[in-house]
Amino acid sequence: MNAAGTCKSLDEVSVLARSAVSAVVVGSITLRPRTGNGGNVYYPGDFFSLNALGLPNPGLAYYREHLPAMISMAHAAGKPLVVSIAGFSEAEYAVVAHDVALAGVDIIELNLACPNVWDDGRQKRIACFDNDRTEAICAQVSQALTTAAATSTAAGDSADRQPPPFGIKISPFSDPAGLAALAGLVARLSGTPQGPRFVCAVNTFPNAFVLDEANRPVIDVELAGLAGAALRPVALGQVRQLRRLLPETVELIGAGGVSRGRDIADFLCAGATAVQAATAFWNRNGDAGVFGDILTDYVDLF
Ligand SMILES: Cc1cc2nc3c(=O)[nH]c(=O)nc-3n(C[C@H](O)[C@H](O)[C@H](O)COP(=O)(O)O)c2cc1C
Repeated sequence: MNAAGTCKSLDEVSVLARSAVSAVVVGSITLRPRTGNGGNVYYPGDFFSLNALGLPNPGLAYYREHLPAMISMAHAAGKPLVVSIAGFSEAEYAVVAHDVALAGVDIIELNLACPNVWDDGRQKRIACFDNDRTEAICAQVSQALTTAAATSTAAGDSADRQPPPFGIKISPFSDPAGLAALAGLVARLSGTPQGPRFVCAVNTFPNAFVLDEANRPVIDVELAGLAGAALRPVALGQVRQLRRLLPETVELIGAGGVSRGRDIADFLCAGATAVQAATAFWNRNGDAGVFGDILTDYVDLF
């Protein structure tokens, strides 16, 4: 799949639906429109990327209007549409989840890991590092999805609409005990409506800092999320640990430095059932052909 942060508009869905991805991931989207950060927000390093986009997206009203067409485009290509949601409170996650479920999206990814979000000059806590917060978000989202499914069924949209499955996307945990605690929560919730059906590991490593030759920060807001090849061993390690900690019913999606067939093989070997890529796409200036090239490279391994 394309990882979140690569597709936000109807035109982009149209391109990605016709690419080699097996599912189209839209987002992350938020309740209100966001312009994101200004200036240099992406740096394509040789071994890593940096980004501090700040979740630019047109906001929920745009997606209420355009999701039906986005879903049709993905389905016409035989692909599910995944929406990644970011929120600034449990209630925001729930409102957005409700409306995207009502629109009929296939899968929801809760981005509990966005590091580049600031409020009144202070960096917000990354949600997945707080188990109580993660549990509260899952509970409120689950409730919202059940309500949306009941509304669709009552409106006669379908005989018995089931809530779409949702999963969580996490930040890399450098504390193995912290990762085990998160996995313990997901294991405890699994099999209940509040249980994430998958964990996507990982989002960018927070607050990296790089200077150019003139000692200027390469990213204007200075601190940025690190991704790309340098993140791959970390992401693989998270997937490996999670596979051992979680019940088999909870699937893993690997993200971090996927740019060659060998990277897909490594993530599958570590325990993922699917992979996502963002940096490979951004480093090719948004050329969706990159996904076909990575898959061809994977097939050539055999
Ligand atoms: C430019 C850029 C924007 C991103 N935006 C989002 C986002 O909106 N939501 C999210 O969950 N992850 C976002 N990510 C993280 C990616 O989805 C992915 O988890 C991470 O970059 C690791 O994969 P990669 O090494 O293939 O880039 C973004 C990454 C990049 C490079």
